[in-house]
Amino acid sequence: MLTSKRAKFSLPPNVNYLNCAYMSPLLKSVEKVGVKALRKKRNPVSITQQDFFSDTELLRKEYARLIHAENPNRIVIIPSVSYGMANVVRNLDIKKGQHILVAAEQFPSNYYPWKSLCDESGAEVKSISPPDGFTERGKRWNEKILEAINANTKAVAIGHVHWADGTRFDLEAIRKRTQDVGALLIIDGTQSVGAMPFDVQKIKPDALVCAGYKWLLGPYSIGLAYYGEYFNNGKPVEENWITRLHSEDFAGLVNYQQAYHEGALRYEVGERSNFILVPMLLNAIQQLNNWGPERIQEYCREIGKSTIEKLTGKGFLIEQENWRGAHLFGIRLPANLDLEKIKQSLIRNKVYVSFRGNAIRVAPNVYNTEKDFQKLLKALTR
Ligand SMILES: Cc1ncc(COP(=O)(O)O)c(C=O)c1O
Repeated sequence: MLTSKRAKFSLPPNVNYLNCAYMSPLLKSVEKVGVKALRKKRNPVSITQQDFFSDTELLRKEYARLIHAENPNRIVIIPSVSYGMANVVRNLDIKKGQHILVAAEQFPSNYYPWKSLCDESGAEVKSISPPDGFTERGKRWNEKILEAINANTKAVAIGHVHWADGTRFDLEAIRKRTQDVGALLIIDGTQSVGAMPFDVQKIKPDALVCAGYKWLLGPYSIGLAYYGEYFNNGKPVEENWITRLHSEDFAGLVNYQQAYHEGALRYEVGERSNFILVPMLLNAIQQLNNWGPERIQEYCREIGKSTIEKLTGKGFLIEQENWRGAHLFGIRLPANLDLEKIKQSLIRNKVYVSFRGNAIRVAPNVYNTEKDFQKLLKALTR
């Protein structure tokens, strides 16, 4: 099992940071790479033509390893999830009578694009709510989603876990059902990829879109999207020079090209060779591949176990282990507790979590230890 990796981060010792779902702290190694990269532009001669291509290629390869994708050229650099989704929306021919299926209260970047597309086309966004009550909530929510997929479903757009409370969606079952009816599967991996195993070859998503600043431990404003074969001949949201064939030939850039680079590279954002953010995210994902998402998940499970048992014993509601992330889960309060007082107690104890919907969202990672959970327990039960 992994041991605490706190020494690899610069978090102050008295901060109990259980909030990676908001934003990860910076790895010292990533910071170092970032500062070095920033300084490079002091002298432009040190940024070569080759640099426009080399780190992005390494980044695609490293991420392909993380998500078990066979072809790194299906992976593109994006600035945000909304950008990655815009490429999907642009290539979806949806008609009145059809619908896009989402989970209720999904993150806006994986809702507004569908809403806008459906408003334009007369189609519908169908939002599947969790069941009432807490008994077998995750299991029953998944069943409701599977039941809602039918011949009119154009796409299911969902996360691997729900961003607000970590409810796990069974992507393999959803994929199977979408294949039965010929629907696409579009995944927002922002709250899972990095900390939870994801296997492109098993799940076969049509798109997997992911922001880099949370569980990928990268900087803000860079993310990655994987696009499957459905998008092979599609139209990107923007046209830039580097996505076109032979863009390596700087002298010949105005020999305008019809063709794009292979795979999904046409979908990359302009100026994707970001000389600061790309090497930073690359370093972060190298570290993640070294630790392994499976072991990160296991580590989070172990450090949280005893606190979760104690909280459940005291009437706090937490989803069963197999229907939530170990790295991301919600705690709902017993009826007699006042959320405002709990918030104050958490602040007093320097326990950093988020409040999303009616859940306290707890999101540990490898820099946390059991001590952070003990502090959380104290803050919630005093
Ligand atoms: C599930 C999920 N998707 C996406 C994002 C970020 O989206 P964007 O990159 O469009 O700002 C977040 C941020 O909290 C998130 O939780």
